[in-house]
Amino acid sequence: MLPRAIDWAGDRIVLLDQTALPRLTTVEVTDVDTLIDAIRRLVVRGAPALGVAGALGVALAARTLEGAELETAAERIAVARPTAVNLAGGVRHALAAAAEGPDAVLAAALELRDADIAACHAIGDRGADLLTELCGDRPLRLHTHCNAGALACVEWGTALGVVRSLHQRGRVELVVADETRPLLQGARITAVELAAEQVPYRVVVDGAGPSLIARGLVDAVVVGADRVAANGDVANKIGTYPLALAAARAGIPFVVAAPETTLDPDTPDGSAIEIEERAPEEVFTGGPAWNPAFDVTPADLVTAIVTDERVWRPG
Ligand code: MRU
Repeated sequence: MLPRAIDWAGDRIVLLDQTALPRLTTVEVTDVDTLIDAIRRLVVRGAPALGVAGALGVALAARTLEGAELETAAERIAVARPTAVNLAGGVRHALAAAAEGPDAVLAAALELRDADIAACHAIGDRGADLLTELCGDRPLRLHTHCNAGALACVEWGTALGVVRSLHQRGRVELVVADETRPLLQGARITAVELAAEQVPYRVVVDGAGPSLIARGLVDAVVVGADRVAANGDVANKIGTYPLALAAARAGIPFVVAAPETTLDPDTPDGSAIEIEERAPEEVFTGGPAWNPAFDVTPADLVTAIVTDERVWRPG
C-alpha cells in the first residue's frame, strides 16, 4: 500500500514527494514557506489534498502566530495555487477556529482530513452505482486523465475512488490513463496507484484519448475536478475538455467525481475560474511555450457530477 499523500505527525506535516514518484520519499514541513514551495512544485497536489494542506498549514502557522500575522500567513497559503478551490477552502476552514487557539485550529484541520477520507469512499460507491446504471452490469473500460486518486486526496481518491469501488465489485476490464502532459501525473502517479491495486491499465499519450473513444474502445470517461462552478462548468487538468468533446460525440458518459468541497457556488461559471499558468519551461525549453495547467469543460458536456452527497446532472 502507498503512503498517504499528506498527513500530520505530531508537530509537522508529512508529504509524500510526488515529484519523485515512483520513488517513495517524504518531505517534512515545519514552516509555512516550505509548505508554499511544496504546493507550487506539486510535491503535494490534487484538489482535496491541497485543501488538507491548506488547513494543516494554518494549523502549523497557528503554533507561532496569531491575529493579523496568522491571517497574512493563511492568505499566502491560500493563493499558492489559484485553480483548485479546496486550497483556499481548507485555509478558511482552519482559520475559522483561530479565536479558540492553536489546538482548535489543528482539530479543525484534522477534521477536514478525516472528512475527505469519508467523502472519497462515498463518491466511490455512488460513482460505481451510477456507472452501473449508465453502462450496465458488465466489466467496463474507463478512461481517466491526470491523477484523481488516493495521492490527490488523503485516501481512496475521487475518479480513482470510483475505479477502486468498481474494481472491488469485479467490474473493471481496463483503465486507460492519459500520461498527462507536461508533468505526467497520469504516467507517474495514476499508473503507480493502479499497479499497486492490481487494476488492469494502459497509459496512452494525451492525444490518443479522443480517438480511442471514437473507435469505441472506451465505455465511460471518469475524471476529477479542481473547481466546479455554480452552473456545473468543470475546471480540471488541461486535456480534460477534449475527452468530454469526444465522449459527447461518441455518446458515452463523461462523469466527474468530486467532493462537495470542490463545488464553488461563488463562481458563476467557468469563465470566472482562474486558470493557473505554469512556467513555460515545464513544456519546452527550446523556445517560447504556453503552459495553462487546467481547462474548463462546459456543463452541457458533463453527464453527471458525483459528489459525496449526490449525483448532479448539470447539462
Ligand atoms: O496540477 P494538479 O496535479 O494539482 O492537478 C490535479 C487535477 O487536475 C486533478 O484531476 C484534480 O485536482 C482532482 S484530484 C481528486
